Amino acid sequence: MKEALENLRRKADDEMHSAKTGEEFLGIKTRYLGRKGLLTDLLRGLKDVTPEEKPILGKLSNDIKKSLLEKIEKALADIEIGAKHKFLGEEKIDVTLPGRGVQYGKLHPVTRVEGEICDIFANLGFSVVEGPDVELTYYNFEALNIPEDHPARDIHDTFYVTDNVVLRTHTSPVQVRTMEEYSPPVRILSPGKVYRPDSDISHTPMFHQVEGLLVDENITFGDLKGTLSFFLRQMFGSDTKVRFRPSFFPFTEPSAEVDIQCVMCKGAGCRVCGHSGWIEILGSGMVDPEVFKTVHYDTERISGFAFGLGVERIAMLKYGISDIRLFFENDRRFLEQF
Ligand code: FA5
Ligand code: MG
Repeated sequence: MKEALENLRRKADDEMHSAKTGEEFLGIKTRYLGRKGLLTDLLRGLKDVTPEEKPILGKLSNDIKKSLLEKIEKALADIEIGAKHKFLGEEKIDVTLPGRGVQYGKLHPVTRVEGEICDIFANLGFSVVEGPDVELTYYNFEALNIPEDHPARDIHDTFYVTDNVVLRTHTSPVQVRTMEEYSPPVRILSPGKVYRPDSDISHTPMFHQVEGLLVDENITFGDLKGTLSFFLRQMFGSDTKVRFRPSFFPFTEPSAEVDIQCVMCKGAGCRVCGHSGWIEILGSGMVDPEVFKTVHYDTERISGFAFGLGVERIAMLKYGISDIRLFFENDRRFLEQF
């Protein structure tokens, strides 16, 4: 039996010597050490040997089993490491390839211009407040002296949410909300989105306005004109042609709109300015006493002016953009120019 065991060890060693792949080593393992394996088979004869031989042969077969197992495990581990090295050796990194580059985001031109507008007025002492986009008709209309039967309240000019809730059509409701909360003097600026069912080369259904309101003692139309002229010079430079044009708003009296000479046609008239040579950028006026009464301000003692700027229109003029809808198409070739 001893001889049979030694033979088996030699045979197994030979086989391992010529084995190369993991499968071959696993095959040897089953063939010798498996439940029906050659060594397992031999060991069944152990019960027939003499009591003196038993411990010696038992130890020998255990040693054989142990060393066989160790050699197989080591061979398998070596094969795995070899495969890893081979993989790493073949995987090449070409450090001369151009990198993918980080794409930096930028501020949208409308956001940029809105920021510039706020900066100019912040330097004049205006502070920024905000109001809701979804607004009560009371603040959007009634409190601004726009009665129930006013054409501005028509379904064609306003997005209604319910009978008495709208998407605000202008930032002017923030005037009322502010005056309800603070007593004069007031000097605020309110940027934000506004909504109207409108769409063409110079109108979009959502656009941005910046509202301004200044209330104090002895405020005159001269203050309004001086403040807005200062703003326009800061924004567009002093060579830009600007005009104040009499207008009407239910919540201001007197009222004026401001136009800037069309940068696309230099005033000659083109599609962008509706062939007038001018583009309207803001509405303004002296706060109507009716509005002051609504918020319980003393109309004998105080007066004030207000204005609402169209941010996209200002951005169009500043950057020479011929169609307002380009701001909202999010074409990167357009946005990357700013
Ligand atoms: C108003 O919205 C008034 N609330 C402005 C105001 C405020 C007057 C305070 C007096 C006192 P108007 O509807 O004209 O006015 O709009 C103001 C500006 O928003 C316009 O001059 C124009 O520059 C811009 N605007 C108006 N409609 C659109 C639109 N659909 N798309 C882009 N810009 C617009
Ligand atoms: Mg207007």
